[in-house]
Amino acid sequence: MRWLGNKTPLLEEILLAAERAGFQGGTVCDLFAGSGAVGRFFRSRGFHVVSTDLMHCSLAFQKVYLECPGPPSFLGVQQFWDQLEPIDASRLHDAEPQDISSWTPFLKLIRYLEEELPAMEGILVRQFSPAGAAGRGYLTPENAARIDAIIHQIRSWRISGLLDESEIWLLIVSVIDAADRVANISGTYGAYLKSWQQNSLHDLKLRIPSTVEGPVGEAHRCDASDWIEQVDCDLLYLDPPYNQRQYGANYHLPEVLSLLPMEESDDSIEAQLYGKTGLLPWKDVASPLCSRRGTECRDSMETVIQRARARGIVFSYSEEGILSRDQIEQMLYRWAVQEHPSDASVASRANILHEIPYRRFKSDRSGSARNFRPAEGRTEDEVHEWLFAIRRVQEERC
Ligand SMILES: C[S@@+](CC[C@H](N)C(=O)[O-])C[C@H]1O[C@@H](n2cnc3c(N)ncnc32)[C@H](O)[C@@H]1O
Repeated sequence: MRWLGNKTPLLEEILLAAERAGFQGGTVCDLFAGSGAVGRFFRSRGFHVVSTDLMHCSLAFQKVYLECPGPPSFLGVQQFWDQLEPIDASRLHDAEPQDISSWTPFLKLIRYLEEELPAMEGILVRQFSPAGAAGRGYLTPENAARIDAIIHQIRSWRISGLLDESEIWLLIVSVIDAADRVANISGTYGAYLKSWQQNSLHDLKLRIPSTVEGPVGEAHRCDASDWIEQVDCDLLYLDPPYNQRQYGANYHLPEVLSLLPMEESDDSIEAQLYGKTGLLPWKDVASPLCSRRGTECRDSMETVIQRARARGIVFSYSEEGILSRDQIEQMLYRWAVQEHPSDASVASRANILHEIPYRRFKSDRSGSARNFRPAEGRTEDEVHEWLFAIRRVQEERC
């Protein structure tokens, strides 16, 4: 999933930072889960992962990557796929060859959803394709009608009790991912493009989400600053937003797709959509961490860090972000030594900062001057990612 700040390219670096700080296993808390890529990776490496995010579509990713117990049987809807040929196995992510047979029900169900189920006009056609009155060009009318039909079908199976919880989340993530690959956008959903990009003209293709094996974790949709008080973990991984772009305003279409199957009909979501791009009201998921106003961002980050009950923290941030390196280091030191202020030098030695050269996220390059501010000495395409790792002082002594 194209997600602003997705850490997929940095997973090995993050694990290395955790290992250098002395963490080889235990519970990891991923407090700003986003696409769920980091939690999924830690689960695959044997960690128990708990995570949260403000967005409902992130909850869907977390549910699939952390809680999914294995391949779904889709027994409740067997009559729809039983007689069909499975769709080609390239739609199966990351599975070893011997795993393929356990995914056959899903591959057959994809055949049903893509080829047997008639397309229909619903909220996606009306609100997110040019066929609707607002003329929003996120999806072609054909792809929008296919998604409408699939969402409608998932909802009706859910209401009839034919799917278990993990089957519902797997289907939702598959739809979000498929829509993302044909969405007519550049990077985020903040705007659609005026003319159709090549990818958006392809037919919608569902894939099986890339689930992993590992300890079953926990997915949440809570505000980090409240939820952190309830979590006890070994390692806290922090990857907060780093600029002013609010995720609620930039990922409204995935958010709508994740919510629709859980509703009784399209109506209540459709009634809320507004503006040029069909936003969902997003103020309830507005984050102070995206604010450049006064000290809002710093105060909010400080609150989260000071409340953390962990043995160590790994913190990702962009050098172009709202917080400076000094501010982040100060917060981490204060947290690490809070019961032992005289041990600041120990904390300082324990702190590790890696700078990782990184290619700029696509929409940051084409975005407004407000969003795009290369750091001193960097080219337009180059941005460095910071990775801090710190252990609490009392832990150093054990
Ligand atoms: C940089 S992204 C995380 C990316 C993620 N690590 C990944 O690999 O996809 C930051 C995330 O923080 C979430 N967020 C922002 N403020 C939050 C808050 N107060 N509580 C929980 N999540 C928040 C956003 O919704 C967004 O998904």
